[in-house]
Amino acid sequence: MVLRSPHSPPRSSQVSVAPPPVTGPSLFGSLMRRKPVERLVAEGGHGEGGGLRRTMGMWQLTMISIGATLGTGIFVVLGEAVPKAGPAVTLSFVIAGLTALFSALSYAELAGTIPVAGSSYSYAYATLGEVIAWICGWCLILEYGVSIAAVAVGWGEYLNEFLNGTIGVTIPDALAAPPGDGGVINLPSLILVLLAGVVLLGGSKESARVNAIMVGVKIAALLLFCAVGLTGFQSGNYEDFMPLGMAGVSGAAATLFFSYIGFDAASTAGEEAKNPQRDLPRAILLSLGIVTALYVLVAFVAIGARPWEGFTDTEATLAAIMNEVTGQTFWGTVLAGGAVIAIASVVLAVLYGQTRILFAMSRDGLVPKSFAKVHARTGVPRINTIWVSLFCGVLAAAIPLGELADATSIGTLFAFALVNVSVLVLRRTRPNLKRTFRVPFAPLFPLIGFGLCVWMMVSLRAITWTVFGLWMAVGLAIYFAYGRSRSRLAVEAVGAPATEEK
Ligand code: ALA
Repeated sequence: MVLRSPHSPPRSSQVSVAPPPVTGPSLFGSLMRRKPVERLVAEGGHGEGGGLRRTMGMWQLTMISIGATLGTGIFVVLGEAVPKAGPAVTLSFVIAGLTALFSALSYAELAGTIPVAGSSYSYAYATLGEVIAWICGWCLILEYGVSIAAVAVGWGEYLNEFLNGTIGVTIPDALAAPPGDGGVINLPSLILVLLAGVVLLGGSKESARVNAIMVGVKIAALLLFCAVGLTGFQSGNYEDFMPLGMAGVSGAAATLFFSYIGFDAASTAGEEAKNPQRDLPRAILLSLGIVTALYVLVAFVAIGARPWEGFTDTEATLAAIMNEVTGQTFWGTVLAGGAVIAIASVVLAVLYGQTRILFAMSRDGLVPKSFAKVHARTGVPRINTIWVSLFCGVLAAAIPLGELADATSIGTLFAFALVNVSVLVLRRTRPNLKRTFRVPFAPLFPLIGFGLCVWMMVSLRAITWTVFGLWMAVGLAIYFAYGRSRSRLAVEAVGAPATEEK
């Protein structure tokens, strides 16, 4: 969408010029400018040259959130968390889930009030000002864009397990791990991200359908694990429930928080939902409830089927337990197939979310306008989807993501903390806005949500904070070099015509 002031020269004479210098409000004033809620909502769905299509009901939205959440955390990270907490890892899942729940309540309130594609970036723009919104959007790139790459990298392990169990071949390390991690290129993850991009290019309705099928498969795979695992359940494995104390339990909870990342993905579909005010809050809370129940159940069965001291292999843990319980490799191979689908659906749903967040940021002028161009036939932000798929695919294929993957959690927690604050600010500044869902016991619950996010952040390692600090510094440099002067609000503030970007 191109803004034209009444004083704009005729279109034909409008050429791409340097953005006008930001004058008028003070530096502080310009950084803190806010976008009115009504305007955010009114612009919903509109892109460059066309609009997104409202095709999703509550179930599709719930499936998007489950699709984005249920994956590497339960299939891979569980194996890393058990040695930290012992059988009490079930409690760790509950604690991490509670941290997610308080923020989910805040997400639900804001998604119902400001149902737009930008998720917490847009909520921050309405409440905390432009520079905080940018920082939030920049953190969401960690939560979404970088986590896609991190998740895709783990996919190869289960793919190899599955290929080995079915046709007896495995992809050699040189082609299944990035440089620096013992490989030359991680080809499976590159292909996975590009395939997800191709599905998304087909349209949001079609993508939601593919995602729903994959979510069905992964839930079935986990239920199958529980059914088979229960046949080998030894209650004695629970005799010493908390062998490593509460410190172990909370350490494991911080690790397991990764498995809850993604429940907010439905909030990025606000402009493609049929009834976003009603359905977004429900989808966010329902998906979190389903995912938490599955996590606790799977962890409970896993420890019952294998004593916690035996969790030394961190790769494809659930498949290995299936093999042990049944004494044959068939069930493990079936589960590995389920995991391959599960992790692929995380990539699909999270890639979707990333494109929609950039769509909203682009509409606000903070990233290039091509990210908001909508393809007329499919109703998809096509250029945006292609760029994001290529970027994430190359990241997954070529970069060892160890530290960056940890940074995913800190970036997510930062965004969640801002969402809790945004609820309180909006309640104060706009008490009469229509809210289809209200966080109960406010301001207590949003404050607890904020406190839990900060607590989890400080329990992360120093190196993660360093990576996060560098990430923020780069983000702020980009904002000052690009977004601050091109922001639509800035352009309007100086009364100059927006520049057209080719
Ligand atoms: N929560 C997502 C997963 O576990 C990131 O894969």
